[in-house]
Amino acid sequence: MRVPNFAMERWQSHHEHHVRYNLSESGVLPFSLAELLEWTDLAPADVSLGYPQTNGSNELREAVSGLYEDAAPENVLITAGSAEANFVTLWRLLEPGDRAVVLVPTYWQTPGLAEGLGAQVATFALEESLSWQPYPGAAEATITPDTRLVVVTNPANPTGSTLSAEAVDEILSACERSGAWLLADEVYVGAEAEGTETPSFWGRYERTLVTGSLSKAYGLPGLRLGWLLGPTAEMEELWARKDYTTISPSAASDALAARVLRPETRRRVLARTRDILLRNRAIVDEWLAGREALGPWILPRAGAIGMVPYDVGANSSELAEHLRSEWSVLVVPGDHFGLDGFLRIGFGGEEAELVEALACIGEALEAYAAQSVS
Ligand SMILES: Cc1ncc(COP(=O)(O)O)c(C=O)c1O
Repeated sequence: MRVPNFAMERWQSHHEHHVRYNLSESGVLPFSLAELLEWTDLAPADVSLGYPQTNGSNELREAVSGLYEDAAPENVLITAGSAEANFVTLWRLLEPGDRAVVLVPTYWQTPGLAEGLGAQVATFALEESLSWQPYPGAAEATITPDTRLVVVTNPANPTGSTLSAEAVDEILSACERSGAWLLADEVYVGAEAEGTETPSFWGRYERTLVTGSLSKAYGLPGLRLGWLLGPTAEMEELWARKDYTTISPSAASDALAARVLRPETRRRVLARTRDILLRNRAIVDEWLAGREALGPWILPRAGAIGMVPYDVGANSSELAEHLRSEWSVLVVPGDHFGLDGFLRIGFGGEEAELVEALACIGEALEAYAAQSVS
């Protein structure tokens, strides 16, 4: 099996630990281990580093199922991030020649892997002109009777947008009509700046799988702890795929996650996230106001990311490379999402660093614009 290049992950993997300002992340400032132990009140001596239960401890599966209406621990498989959950799902469901429909722009993992598995990938799109909603009728037209799998990411990466209730209803009715499986990547749920959690697709249609993780809303990507939720009858097969990937979660991550998801701790962690998002999003918003070469952006609703349009007569990959090599600022070029003319700016980090990095981007773009005019 040959998989297409996952341009954004390659870009981040090569550069994110070697720049002064990393604005390529989509989650909020991560916790340190010391902070997390304090917040969770977990004593290291209580964590055995043997293999844990391979589909996740009962306590953790119970806690994850508690986040969704009418879910039970039997519906939950714990994975290494939502990346493994997405991987296992596509690997289980797609055969060469199957039709997969993906809502774009999106994190490239699902369309890239679907293509690698030999599926025919069709797309429908979030439109900038509709504040990142799909055209009414687009889902219905694309989700045909021969569609095997539909993938939607909600809230969305890279736009930080959330689907309207009408768009959700249309996707669900199109799935029902076609009988396709629906994979809802909900990894940004809980990272809504205004605090209203995006309703899950779980429980709306029987052939639904939902993925999530502690990476974005909880500031814990380094735990590599995610989950997959699916109909009970499917879970054995999905779990069996894990025998070939990571076998089990990390024991330490499983124990920490079970504590993080206790209601009071979860509430505090998500409040920390919202606080960072509201403060830092306002910084970007103010920085964009009145600029000639940048913006305006469509205010992101969830996740620490937004798509910022620019107008300096340069390709986005070229511009991102210039920012990296000359200014040591890492952003994600719109090209990585098929959206040239945009930069994806991550604003979840340290406030002071964000301000400095934005100043660099402003200066760099002004110089760039002046250069391309002269
Ligand atoms: C939409 C989406 N899904 C999945 C992932 C993978 O995240 P993780 O494996 O850390 O949960 C990402 C990471 O950026 C993402 O943006």
